[in-house]
Amino acid sequence: MANINDHYLKLAAGYLFPEIGRRVSAFADAHPDAELIRLGIGDVTEPLAPAIVAALHRATDEMASAEGFRGYGPENGYDFLVDAIREHDYRARGVELAADEIFVSDGSKQDSGNIQEIFGLDCSICVTDPVYPVYVDTNVMAGRTGEADDDGRYAGLIYLAATEENGFAPSPPSQGADLAYLCSPNNPTGAVMNREVLGAWVDWARENDAVLIFDAAYDAFIQDPALPRSIYEIEGARRCAIEMRSFSKRAGFTGVRCAYTTIPRELVGKASDGSEVSIRDLWSRRHSTKFNSVPYLVQRAAEAAFSAEGKKQTEEQVRYYMENARLMREGLGAAGFTVFGGVHAPYIWMRTPEGLDSWDFFDRLLSDSHIVGTPGAGFGPAGEGYLRLSAFNSRENVEEAVTRIRKAFA
Ligand code: MLT
Repeated sequence: MANINDHYLKLAAGYLFPEIGRRVSAFADAHPDAELIRLGIGDVTEPLAPAIVAALHRATDEMASAEGFRGYGPENGYDFLVDAIREHDYRARGVELAADEIFVSDGSKQDSGNIQEIFGLDCSICVTDPVYPVYVDTNVMAGRTGEADDDGRYAGLIYLAATEENGFAPSPPSQGADLAYLCSPNNPTGAVMNREVLGAWVDWARENDAVLIFDAAYDAFIQDPALPRSIYEIEGARRCAIEMRSFSKRAGFTGVRCAYTTIPRELVGKASDGSEVSIRDLWSRRHSTKFNSVPYLVQRAAEAAFSAEGKKQTEEQVRYYMENARLMREGLGAAGFTVFGGVHAPYIWMRTPEGLDSWDFFDRLLSDSHIVGTPGAGFGPAGEGYLRLSAFNSRENVEEAVTRIRKAFA
């Protein structure tokens, strides 16, 4: 019998969203007439923008001819997409990146889970709490932690509580660490890091020789142009940060799959013999060994998100979701709930009503109002006492959800 990777046995619970899915399916089976409104997992609901659909059609036609057919693509992405990323996501914000510092992939979930593979097993890891569970679980699987305590905190990880007091944007710890995961705009709290907070993290990373893993999957939802969208807008970040960005939420690609990871050449790590090694080169080695490029059709679709029409259409979708977020924030706030987020992110982070913990409130919302949320405790112990609502849904459903919650709880 083959030995298994025992570290998997430390995982305190099933992955959050399948766990929620199981509870919701059980409820739906028992109550087939209930009209559920799903504001749990942050999955887009608007159809693909016309410019993106047209690009998919064109690319499909190309693939149907001998001249236009393409097999394996370049591992790091086609030049047409990498150049569009450099131009629109970076140069437009004053950031210069070389083509070979960008790695196109099929999702930021994968990238943020896989990136830890190129770092030593003895690296110390810092995360915020609550946190996107992928950052923690993948380090548990790799063996960088001990067991979870009764609260679900893994021994060996440095947790920084994201609280109402610190605006859900914790400052760097007083101690050092090798890797720190940051997500801004934040999933799940919807908070956003300003230049000052992000600058403090970059300074901390430089002082402690740490690497920041910066997840910017929700950057398109930032409403204030003065807020940083990329960590490379912060002086010194090229030497200490890896950035991940995605087309999932900004262009409706959750089912299409395209994202990218950026690693500047200056970023180095240390080998066991003390020599400096390029992190970018290691990721390139991993990427080319374990990944065979995002389909041509999908990369053409992603490129179309940067065209004038594509930008206009996808920005309109972002505005639609952000209007949903405003309606939830204001509607629930007016009903007496304490509500955060939803200003620069498509997530509302609300305090649970007096006397209900996160999972109790989740269950009550499901059974009394037929609404699916995500219990804050599922993102970490400091998420206890909160629940996340996603703004990715139709206007009609969002308005109905607010009405139902107000009726049941106000
Ligand atoms: C979420 O709901 O937290 C996200 O949709 C999960 C993800 O992007 O993987």
